[in-house]
Amino acid sequence: MSLTGKDFITLFDFDNHSINSLIDTAIEIKQKTKTGKAHHVLKGKTLAMIFAKPSLRTRVSFEVGIQQLGGYAVVLKQDEIILGKRETISDTARVLSRYADGIMIRTFDHKDVVELAEYSDVPVINALTDFCHPCQVLADLLTIKEKFGSFKNLKLAYVGDGNNMANSLIAGCALTGIDVSIATPDGYEPGMDIIWKGKDISISTNSNIEVINNPLDAVSGANIVYTDVWASMGQEKEAEKRKKIFKNYQVNEALMKKASANAIVLHCLPAHRGEEITEDILEKHADTIFDQAENRLHAQKAVMASIM
Ligand code: CP
Ligand code: NVA
Repeated sequence: MSLTGKDFITLFDFDNHSINSLIDTAIEIKQKTKTGKAHHVLKGKTLAMIFAKPSLRTRVSFEVGIQQLGGYAVVLKQDEIILGKRETISDTARVLSRYADGIMIRTFDHKDVVELAEYSDVPVINALTDFCHPCQVLADLLTIKEKFGSFKNLKLAYVGDGNNMANSLIAGCALTGIDVSIATPDGYEPGMDIIWKGKDISISTNSNIEVINNPLDAVSGANIVYTDVWASMGQEKEAEKRKKIFKNYQVNEALMKKASANAIVLHCLPAHRGEEITEDILEKHADTIFDQAENRLHAQKAVMASIM
């Protein structure tokens, strides 16, 4: 089944088969990258990259990734294009479609990405919105497959804010059959629509999805413990308030005692040491966490090579 021409906006737009096929493509591309085999499958193609929020991993991994595939990137910062204000999103989409073979966008409102894709003639890749972060979770799934060999009999515990990462993890785990337990403070849970969407998919993949408030219960027996910042980009003003609300949701030594003996820790980064994760847990699991960061490159190359 070909994914050519398809947008990559949320993992919910894909089925179990296509997610597994993207991960297999990522494994193949990673192997070629590591052994120095040319894979210029996007020779001469151009990716327009729109950033309305900061980035380290996404910016560098997409730009390096398209170059390794034989193509080029054009980076557009928010102060240059002023998305949705200088001109309509539909005009931006139609103009960029005349110059580029793909558009990557990181912004706030998920609806803007959907609108951009609606008017674009070339595939659109969501590189994070307030709603979801599908590129990150594809890289996370690749990391999980590398560490455990398959997605069978695994439980992922996500501890923290029911944010864009939690939403995409629900989708990614439901699609691959990983059990997922999300622990957030009361009132910070992912939306019921996401939970139900995940549960719907999990019927065919046999994954168990639960959203609770007790981090110890979520981590109990988990093979993968995942966390993310307590205040996401755009929520900086709430950071101090959130530090108090989330203080019992830190991934630390005591919490990790509840996890499976060989549990791995994942963090999408950037990390705030001493908040959502302690320095010692991050450093103990640094090899895995930086493998995870590296896998952004390989996973996104698989996405670009498959859709562009
Ligand atoms: N994890 C992630 O998306 O990192 P950046 O915000 O640095 O791109
Ligand atoms: N939830 C975080 C993820 C960063 C990769 C944010 O949106 O800022």
